Parts: sequence; structure tokens; C-alpha cells
Amino acid sequence: MLVLGIETSCDETAAAVLEDGRRIRSSVVASQVEVHAPYGGIVPELASRRHLEVIHPVLDRALADAGVGLEDLAALAVTVGPGLVGSLLVGVSVAKAIAFARHLPLVGVNHLEGHIAAAFLEFPALTFPLAALVVSGGHTHLYHVPAECEYRLLGRTRDDAAGEAFDKVARLLGLGYPGGPVIEREAQGGDPRAISFPRAAFSDGSLDFSFSGLKTAVVHSLRDLGRAAPSGAPPLSPQQVRDVCASFQQAAVDMLVERVMRAARDHALGVIVIAGGVACNGVLRQALKAEAEAEGIQLVVPSPALCTDNAAMIAAAGAVRLRRGERAGWDLNAAASLPLC
Ligand code: KG4
Ligand code: ZN
Repeated sequence: MLVLGIETSCDETAAAVLEDGRRIRSSVVASQVEVHAPYGGIVPELASRRHLEVIHPVLDRALADAGVGLEDLAALAVTVGPGLVGSLLVGVSVAKAIAFARHLPLVGVNHLEGHIAAAFLEFPALTFPLAALVVSGGHTHLYHVPAECEYRLLGRTRDDAAGEAFDKVARLLGLGYPGGPVIEREAQGGDPRAISFPRAAFSDGSLDFSFSGLKTAVVHSLRDLGRAAPSGAPPLSPQQVRDVCASFQQAAVDMLVERVMRAARDHALGVIVIAGGVACNGVLRQALKAEAEAEGIQLVVPSPALCTDNAAMIAAAGAVRLRRGERAGWDLNAAASLPLC
């Protein structure tokens, strides 16, 4: 059974063909990084326009790579939210048009469920219950997943998403967009203990996250180091930049690891899944692996191509929903804020 997945929630136009809910026959991702890089972040109007321009070639390529035509498909799955509404609408409209023209079943997928489903593509033996952390440029959500398609929100960011913090700090340092990969690279030559940045915690024991204080602390330290001083002040030395990156990254990682481990412990969960773009971060993966191993907890992290936005994960989540009998009507619509539970 072949499911065509379509993902256009943010700044990646993606299509994938998935066989029997598990085997990736093709996965095409057209990144818009060069469109948004000059602005240091995503410009929604530019994102939806670019989706319109590339969605058809991306679909053609996904079908060609899989060696199939529309007539071979059994169903379609499309991201309906959360995300940028103009971007989401491109995918939803295309998916509805194909489903209508080809008389195919269609299902709408929550983007966050898609990120979690990515883990099952590479680790089919994964079992519930589990703790799932979705960390990306738009989301920092921690869930207890007791069973298939069941979610309990344990914690979420109260301000910036983790990836957003990486992107903002990179912009402050003039390192470009997206910030995560470049900060990780710079941090490799830096000292994570050079600057003591705050790790936000809530006195009520909440599993929520907060990254805005950390970002402000970076702004202050840059001022102290001279970066934000009036023009004429010497710029940071390359080593100072590396130290800021390493210290910031360590603070962000410490916060994420502390919450996830506490969630697993509090809810007696033996499996942790992390997904989303920030889950590509090697320091986060290593730190969580060490802590999880020490407590006999299994850590599952998809490979980087499945952590960042892609359509194979949407097809995977969609295949589960289709198996359970879910079908979307022609009134299927994009929803910018779409809670998972
Ligand atoms: O999941 P994703 O591709 O798109 C969203 O749904 O947001 O995640 C993109 C985010 C960006 O904020 C990017 O800076 C961050 O993931 N990211 C990373 C790394 N690679 C990507 N953050 C930290 N370390 C990385 N290696
Ligand atoms: Zn995402």
C-alpha cells in the first residue's frame, strides 16, 4: 500500500512515497533556506509563494524517485497544522485536488505527530508508553505517549522554541541562518563553561521550558564582551564567539535534558523519543544518551534527515491514521495552531 505524504507547514516543501507505513520509497525535501537567510528568519509570505512554485516539481520528483505514478497510490496524507497558515494551505489544497481527481482517501496529519512518527520509521520495534520531545524552530513540546495516537502534554515552552533560541543567538553573533548547525559547529572549539548562562526552572516543578532568559543573558554577555558596544568597539575574537556558542548550547541542552529525564522518571517511562530539527544536535544526543543509559532508559533519535521537516514522517503518521479508519472530508482545512491533545 503506497501513501503519498505532503508537508508544507514551514519553510520546507516536501513529498514522500511510503510503502506499507514503513518503507520509504522516496523522500524529497526542497529547502527554502536561501530565500529566508537574508532576513535571519522565515518570512511567511515568501514561504507560501515558494511552496507554490516548487510543490509540483517536488511531487513529480517524489513519484519518479519511487518509480510510481498517481495511479499506483492508495491514499494521501498531508500536514494540516500547526504551522504557517499560508504555507499549510498550499499542501492542503494540492492534496485535496489529487485526492478528488483520483478518488483517493485523504487524511490530515498534525505536524508534531509526524515528528514523533519519524522514530517508528527507523525503529519499527518501538513500543508504548514513551516520552516524546519535539524540539524545532517552532516547537518545544514534551509529551507522555501512553499508546498509539494518544498524547498527554507534560510541558511546553512558555516563550521561544529551542530552535528559535539557536536561530536568534546565531543572528546576534552574525553567524547566519539557520542558527542550530552553525552554533553547534562553532561550539566544537569553545569552552561550555566559559560563561555561566542561566538554566530556567519553575518553582512549581513544572516541566515547561523557557528560553527567553537565556537569550537575554547572551545579549548581556555580548555587551560585556564588547560586541553590542557603540561602533568602533573591537568585535569578538573567534575564540570568544566559540565560547559564547558552547556556553549557550550547553545551557539549552542542560534544560532540555533535565526536563526529559524528569518526565521519564516521574511517569515511569522506559523509552524516550526526541525529534525535530534541534534533535540533530550532537551535544543534546550525547548528553541524553548518557543520562538515559545510566537509568536503563532506551533513547530513540531518528537520523538527522528524519529529524528535520520531511514528508516521510507525515506519510508514516498518516498511514497509522488511515489504518485506524480516519478519512478527511472535502472541508479539510489548514489550522495554524493545532494542538496534539
Ligand atoms: O524541524 P525543523 O526542520 O523545522 C521546524 O519545524 O521548525 O527545525 C528547524 C530548527 C531550526 O531552528 C534550526 O536552527 C534547528 O532546528 N536546528 C538545530 C540543529 N539543526 C537544526 N538546532 C541545534 N543544533 C542543530 N544541530
Ligand atoms: Zn517541524
